[in-house]
Amino acid sequence: MIHFIDGQFLAKDSLTISIDDRGYYFGDGVYEVVKVYDGELYTAEEHFERLSQSATKVKMTIPYSEQQLIDIAKELVKVNGIVTGHIYMQVTRGVSSRVHQFPNPEVAPVVTAYAVHNQRPMKTIENGVGTIFVDDIRWLRCDIKSLNLLGSVLAKQEAFEANCAEAILVRDGIVTEGSSTNMFGIKDGIVYTHPASNLILNGITRRVVLRLCEENGIPVEEKAFAPEEALAMDEFFMTSTTAEVTPVITIDGKAIGSGVPGPLTKKLQEAFARQIP
Ligand code: PDD
Repeated sequence: MIHFIDGQFLAKDSLTISIDDRGYYFGDGVYEVVKVYDGELYTAEEHFERLSQSATKVKMTIPYSEQQLIDIAKELVKVNGIVTGHIYMQVTRGVSSRVHQFPNPEVAPVVTAYAVHNQRPMKTIENGVGTIFVDDIRWLRCDIKSLNLLGSVLAKQEAFEANCAEAILVRDGIVTEGSSTNMFGIKDGIVYTHPASNLILNGITRRVVLRLCEENGIPVEEKAFAPEEALAMDEFFMTSTTAEVTPVITIDGKAIGSGVPGPLTKKLQEAFARQIP
């Protein structure tokens, strides 16, 4: 596969990364995952706008415009012949000896990206997944798509060890989001999800789903809810670039609603499928 590194498109085996990259030492960088359907990037503008916003929030300047980043991603799709898959892109603060404060004088950020072939996860989209509650031990700037993912990594591992697909994170008695997804509950026809604050990543798929709810006359309340309220929902689902709209059928081994993907979740899945290329 052909990767992108600092202005060049190179085969994976022929590229090198410095051991002094701040991404390696500190996780000092930001990233995005963009889905490719039918050879086309999906919601690319939104993803690269969020990448710029994440960079600004950590006081980094990406050496490419959003349009240039889109062009790099498009080129990766093309040279790797991606039909269905995704693009991963990350930007680190650059290469310098290991001191916590920013390098002085400033160094150039390191931009890398690669493409992956993968099919839509139809099995879990159709059948739903099991989840568990896990304490949200992450930092207080979850709105930044930062390379620092230890809190998410530990939560996801706990879920996998419990034979579950995702961890539902709980902070101070409220459900925030998943380790790599946004969480939604449906009760009496109303869709509930945590408001976009510093405690969650405002997912691009989350925004698409909120728009689809509006277009389909499904009422939404961006309002935090407790784990007990989550368990009492009629339906539950999670969203992300790769998971799309995936039904959550159990939490901590307890069935949500009737324990199968619910009708409003299915309606949203159908609406989602209609607007992808
Ligand atoms: N994860 N919340 C968190 C903590 C995430 O890491 C993600 C995405 C989301 C969903 O965002 P979006 O709909 O924009 O993909 C929510 C990506 C896919 C990842 O880390 O692989």
